[in-house]
Amino acid sequence: MEKRMPKGFLWGGATAANQFEGGWQEGGKGLGLIDVVPYGPDRMPVARGEKVMLSCDEEHYYPGHEAVDFYHHYKEDIALLAEMGFKCFRMSISWTRIFPNGDEAEPNEEGLAFYDRVFDECLKYGIEPLVTLCHFDLPIHLLHQFGGWRDRKMIDCFLTYCRAVFERYKGKVKYWITFNEINMLNHLPFTSCGLIVKEGENEKQVKYLCAHHELLASAGAVKLAHEIMPEAMVGCMLAGGSFYPYCCAPTDVWQAKQTERGNYFFIDVQSRGAYPNYALKWLERDGIVIDWQPGDRELLAEGTVDFISFSYYCSRCDSADPEVTSKRMAANAFRTVRNPYLEASEWGWQIDPLGLRVTMNDLYDRYQKPLFIVENGLGAKDELTPEGTIEDDYRIAYMREHIRAMIDAVVEDGVPLMGYTMWGPLDLVSASTGEMSKRYGVIYVDRDDQGQGSLKRIPKKSFYWYKRVIATDGAEL
Ligand code: BG6
Repeated sequence: MEKRMPKGFLWGGATAANQFEGGWQEGGKGLGLIDVVPYGPDRMPVARGEKVMLSCDEEHYYPGHEAVDFYHHYKEDIALLAEMGFKCFRMSISWTRIFPNGDEAEPNEEGLAFYDRVFDECLKYGIEPLVTLCHFDLPIHLLHQFGGWRDRKMIDCFLTYCRAVFERYKGKVKYWITFNEINMLNHLPFTSCGLIVKEGENEKQVKYLCAHHELLASAGAVKLAHEIMPEAMVGCMLAGGSFYPYCCAPTDVWQAKQTERGNYFFIDVQSRGAYPNYALKWLERDGIVIDWQPGDRELLAEGTVDFISFSYYCSRCDSADPEVTSKRMAANAFRTVRNPYLEASEWGWQIDPLGLRVTMNDLYDRYQKPLFIVENGLGAKDELTPEGTIEDDYRIAYMREHIRAMIDAVVEDGVPLMGYTMWGPLDLVSASTGEMSKRYGVIYVDRDDQGQGSLKRIPKKSFYWYKRVIATDGAEL
């Protein structure tokens, strides 16, 4: 039987302003969180909030400043996406383009006008924008002012920003995501929500304080979106990838379940509208106090999301055996036990196409809401041939197997899926390492890790392959 995705499926690609857009000082934009996250050995300590750098200096190179300059290339870039037959383009709005400091009374017209041009360009080709409101982004001014999401006042600032963009783009943007990979707060607290844990502070307490504020802000944004744009659909976003027990010892099964719940906690609240019992118990056990204010519970219940979006790069593994867990490795900023049955990318992220089907089934069994795969792909080094082409068969192989597993989940298992946006259709800056050489794109961008290069865009072999996949709705892989 020929398997393909249904008509109307949203095939496309995903980006984020902080890694893609550049133009960091143009159009009245203010300083954002990523603008102070450098390339090099200081990147991870800053991203984890272990090293404090709240302004730029001469010694460091900041790859987000220019990124791959979508700001000036958006027409050319969107035309390339249209040539591939994209139905959907995921991007984020840079908060500091709209509110440079984050606490102004009025939005910045130049910033609003930029995204008008971008959305109009997408719509010209019949491409639906899917917009993340906050993708590893917040105004540095609010960090100085409030210490980021640890302060409840952030909720009002965020909702003022949401109102401005909802009112401006209603009728142009139907699909929205509140916070990118909200569970990343546990792994990259600074990049994720501007959190710097102070000396002597209870780290868990302050993380769940930020989480509570973000969850309220997310619920508020969903409510507001529905009021202003009744036809809009708003999703939460998980750094996904199911957790497997390392072996079938019940202790490993239990450990994997516990770790998985740590991951699901955020979207459990966003999707079901209340803190789950298991979380209330562990917060109580750890002596963590949630700052419940009148109206919080009602807001969470009223602001549940319409769909569950997630990134999927790899599955994960956990064990109760300290001997096994002492050898954890990286997997999208998570530390995870190496699964001996899987190969890994050059960056050590383990490749597991069937794990995507597992993850989709797990998420749908849990929430019974439509899913949206909003990131998936292979970060790899690409070489230009002497003819100037990129023969990225490894990327095609990765995407082919993942798309096959996705189609199985939909066709064989009946999981409702709104779309698939592969990560970084044009090469962009890596969030974790700041490298350009960790490339996900089906379109090469001539720029290196030090920011040198012409920024020329060159379609790779995978560009033509993905175009065919989209044209046949996945029947031809
Ligand atoms: C996700 C993020 O964690 O993974 C993206 O939402 C990120 O911002 C992507 O770029 C891939 O990770 P990396 O570190 O390889 O860029």
